[in-house]
Parts: sequence; structure tokens; C-alpha cells
Amino acid sequence: MSDGAAKITNKDGRTAELPILSGTHGPDVVDVRGLRKETGLFTYDPGFASTASCKSAITFIDGDEGILLHRGYPIEQLAEHSNYLEVSYLLMYGELPNQQQREQFEHTISRHTMVHENIRTFLGGFRYDAHPMAMLVGTVGAMSSFYHDSTDINNPQHREISAQRLIAKMPTLAAYCYARYTGRPLLYPDNSLSYVENFTRMMFGVPAEEYTPNPVVTSALELIMILHADHEQNASTSTVRLTGSSGANPFASIAAGIASLWGPAHGGANEAVINMLDAILYSGETIEQTIARAKDKSDPFRLMGFGHRVYKNFDPRAKLIQKMCHDLLADLGGDQPLFELAMELEKATLADEYFIERRLYPNVDFYSGIILRALDIPMNMFTVMFAISRNVGWISHWMEMHEDREFRIGRPQQIYVGAPRRDYPA
Ligand code: CMC
Repeated sequence: MSDGAAKITNKDGRTAELPILSGTHGPDVVDVRGLRKETGLFTYDPGFASTASCKSAITFIDGDEGILLHRGYPIEQLAEHSNYLEVSYLLMYGELPNQQQREQFEHTISRHTMVHENIRTFLGGFRYDAHPMAMLVGTVGAMSSFYHDSTDINNPQHREISAQRLIAKMPTLAAYCYARYTGRPLLYPDNSLSYVENFTRMMFGVPAEEYTPNPVVTSALELIMILHADHEQNASTSTVRLTGSSGANPFASIAAGIASLWGPAHGGANEAVINMLDAILYSGETIEQTIARAKDKSDPFRLMGFGHRVYKNFDPRAKLIQKMCHDLLADLGGDQPLFELAMELEKATLADEYFIERRLYPNVDFYSGIILRALDIPMNMFTVMFAISRNVGWISHWMEMHEDREFRIGRPQQIYVGAPRRDYPA
């Protein structure tokens, strides 16, 4: 779709008429593909904040209005009526499943939950104190050496089987990484349980005892996972697309996404929230002092879990999770001093002019960090939880990319600012 054009002229007077493209929602986009050919110029956009790298029909975000849609459905409606596997089907295939498709999908996923026995042995090779994210990156990458019967990226059936394997096996791998970290025995999956229950059993169960899933924990995790399932072209998803654009197999591509998610500016924020709350408690600082530090421009301290790059009005995911957080804390008890501090901080910032003026609200990570702590999920598993949830988003984008006829290997340009050409000293 094109409506109008943007004209760009270089210093030699060569002009390019660049078409303007429109999507279903969102701002119009200047199509700069002809720019270099017509004028020899290209664009400079560190962080890609003004660049659309692809066309996508999966997720739409309007940060000013606080809107998040998956395949057109508002996140609020999915959170209320759906579950994680159904949202996964929606993201992957574009439509909500009917009854038969839902049952078939659940059946397929549950039949792929086990991993090759040698993966269990492979995990034993990590150092005793390896971080679960380090193990997850390595193990998901290693899957390409175990499941090479489905790594022909040009075969749509291979792509689908790999996608199903990744969704089915990610919770098993994540729970195994944690079991290795704690030294607990690894439990095989139990396919009579739901996707989330199966994960919590492998995380917290032991072979010596029957495991009974806690419905409060299950529904809290179900919500957290739905809210983290996809967020369009974020750093890890873009990494998966860029890695996959060279023709890398799906396991290697998703491992690259996990590596990107690991960074504290992306998947690590919920962990940072708990670290901050712990540090405040430990120091005995008052809420007033903490807020004063956050406002002080000479102090680099920021309130972790507040503000968002895209959502300047409110984060719709935070709204949904906030209520669950309050209910859960009343239900589960747990680390009361930390939870009370979190709720006081929330209240104080919502009434503070500095935060109101700058539209800094608690974001999804503020509440998810607190909830994961209340659910007894260890801190070093917080980003792993994010990876399990975002896995389906990565896969859906990887699949969409391979079906896109405009898809080419990703290869950005640069402005070269190094030494000019010079000769090697004779
Ligand atoms: N505490 C105190 N002041 C803040 C904070 C904060 N958390 N966030 C922004 N500000 C101030 C900032 O100092 C600036 O003030 P001024 O206009 O006086 O210079 C103003 O608000 C705008 O900040 P900005 O840095 O231009 O905003 P940004 O959109 O570039 O940054 C952010 C967004 C998320 C990086 C930032 O708000 C932040 O560092 N938050 C804390 C970390 C955090 O919670 N990250 C998780 C985000 S959700 C992740 C996800 O969706 O996956």
C-alpha cells in the first residue's frame, strides 16, 4: 500500500522519490529501499528506533495509547479468556484454534515434551554453579545436534515440527537447568498435566513424592506467560530474525534470541526490581529517601520497574498483572517486608509529581518480579521464565520471516569513521 512519497536529493542533485507505506495500524513508513540505488545515500539509525525492519502480522503496539494486540486481539481479552498454549497457537498460526485444533495442538505439544536422553547427560557437563540462563543458551543451541531431522529451513513441515519441539521442550530444558543448578534429580515430564503444571512439577517436584499443582501458582504463571509471549520487534526477536536470516537452523536462531534476552536492559529488569527492593530494605532507607534519590539528577539511581521506552501512557500488561499481584500477595504471604515495601513504593510514586509529569508508571517487570518472588521462583530463574514465555513469539517471527517473499539476509550498513586508506609501513 502506498500513499504519497518522500523526496530526498543528494549533494549532486540526484533525487529519489520514496514511497510511503501504510500498515493496518500505526504510523506511515518511508520505504527507503530505492534510496541507495537512486542517490547513493543510505540511512543512519542506531538502535533502529526509526526503522521498520520487516512487515509483520503478528503483534501491534501503540505505546501512546497503551495498546497491545496479538493477531488483532487485545491483550486484555486474551489474558481474561485464553491460556498460554492457545495464545501460542494464535501467534503461530494467525487465528484462534477451534475445539479440534486446540485439542490437536495440545496433544502434539504434550507428545514432544521429553528431550533426548543425551541432553540430560550434556547438562551434567556444566560447572556446578552455572547460571540457568547460561545452561539454557547452550542447551537450546545443542538441540540442533539432536534434532537434525527437522532442520531443513526450506521445508515448511520441518519448520513446523521444530517450532512444536521448541515450544514443548523449552519448559523441560528450563526446569532441568534449574535442577542441575540445585543438584536435584531431573524429573521426566508428566503429559497428564497442563503445560504450566508440567513445568512447575519439573521445577519443584521430587521423585520421592507425589506432586500436586497449586492452582494459584498455575494461574499466576499462566498470566505472566501470556503477557510475555510476544512484543513485536524487540531486541531478542530482532536477534532471532537476524540470525535466522542467514539460514541458520531454528534451534541456533532461538538460542541467539535467548542470549539477547539475557541482558539486563531486556529480560533482566524483573530481577533488578527485587535486587533494588532487597537493597533498600537492607540499607534501612525510607521510601521518601529512595524517591528523592531517583529524582536526583546527580545520582545515577533509577527506580527499577518504572517507566517504559514504548509505553508512555501505561503498560497494558502492567495493568493486568497489578491486580493479580495484589491478590497473590494477600493469598500467599511470603516475603512480607519486601512486598510491603513494593506496594508502598507503588503508592508513593503514583502520587508523586515527578513521576506523574514524566509518565513513569510501574511497568510489567515491577509486578512480575514481585509475583515470581512470591511464587518462590528463584531469582536466577526470572529471565529463564521470560525465555520460556517469549519462545513462542520468537518462533512465530522466525516462521513468518521464512514465509515472507521480501525476506533477505539482514545486513545493516555503517558510517565508517576509522583511519582513511593508508599504506603498510615499508
Ligand atoms: N526512575 C527515575 N526517573 C526515571 C526513570 C526511573 N525508572 N525512568 C525514566 N526516568 C526519568 C528520566 O531521568 C528522564 O527525566 P528528565 O526528563 O528529567 O531527564 C525522564 O524520566 C525520561 O526518561 P528517559 O530515560 O528519556 O526514558 P526512556 O524511554 O529512554 O527510558 C526506560 C525507558 C525503561 C529505560 C527507563 O524508564 C528506565 O530506565 N526504567 C527503569 C528500568 C526498567 O524498569 N526497565 C524495564 C522496562 S520494561 C521492559 C519490557 O517491556 O520488556
